[in-house]
Amino acid sequence: VQDARALPYPEGSRAGAPDARPHRRAVVMTMGALHAGHLSLVRRAKELADAVVVTIFVNPLQFGPTEDLDRYPRDLEGDLALLSGPGLLGADDVVFAPTADVVYPDGDPIARVTAGSVGDVLEGALRPGHLDGVLTVVLKLLHLVRPQVAVFGAKDAQQLAAVRRMVRDLDVPVEVVAGATVRDEDGLALSSRNAYLSPDQRRQALALSQALTAARTQAAAGGGPDAVRAAALAVLTDGLAVADVRPVDVVDYVALVDPGTFAEVGPDRTGTAVLALAARVGVTRLIDNAEVELV
Ligand code: PAJ
Repeated sequence: VQDARALPYPEGSRAGAPDARPHRRAVVMTMGALHAGHLSLVRRAKELADAVVVTIFVNPLQFGPTEDLDRYPRDLEGDLALLSGPGLLGADDVVFAPTADVVYPDGDPIARVTAGSVGDVLEGALRPGHLDGVLTVVLKLLHLVRPQVAVFGAKDAQQLAAVRRMVRDLDVPVEVVAGATVRDEDGLALSSRNAYLSPDQRRQALALSQALTAARTQAAAGGGPDAVRAAALAVLTDGLAVADVRPVDVVDYVALVDPGTFAEVGPDRTGTAVLALAARVGVTRLIDNAEVELV
């Protein structure tokens, strides 16, 4: 664990090696409670750069007043053990796990980033201010770490779209790379919040990935946006008898959106769209998404 603020500027060649290629640094930002999904982003970052910085920071700014900030799983020792596994962090790599007073030395920041129209829909509508809090800490961590590459998971597709948009809108000098969603064998997307689920709830949670499969099947069969949304919603609300998948407790949303703006696509849309869904199993809120090809 090191303080990323003390790292040298990575621009330019290594000293004494004028012909060496520029030193590239990649960042993977996390809130800890690491799992194989996070580790896949670290592996991707290792392919893209000479040195990787993994940040671990549970960002208070992106949690609403009634959300799980206090009970969010924290396990720095376990995280460091995972990150030192084979093919992961080596001598040139760094873990940056700052406390809140390092990230927010003056308390809540006055200047903040807003996610605008991307931040007002879906996750943003249900979690007001969430994506603003994410973008604000992401921009701060980019300034503290100064990477050329930042790897984010497609699991949080709206977050990824908001980060990409911020980088373009504010000319942030970083390349954003997406890492594919890592799933358990039965399809459940890995999430730190899966730790909250009882064994029964864990089975209920399968409805999310099964709903995505139903949506893709519907699209491949020529179904339009409304049929695709309906196919996903049916699995979430009714379950799937064949696979013994039980319904979720509450459906927060089922949306078929443009991958860049996260606005709902119209009935005549063709090409790639993102089916995004959020549902609650007990008190645990889960999200998942997949690209859908509309023909
Ligand atoms: P966190 O939920 O810890 O996720 C950190 C990164 O891991 C994000 O880019 C997320 O999309 C990715 N990720 C999560 N589950 C994944 C999975 N199953 N497969 C692949 N990647 C996965 O997202 C955040 O933290 C925060 O909002 C953060 C960006 C760190 C800002 O605080």
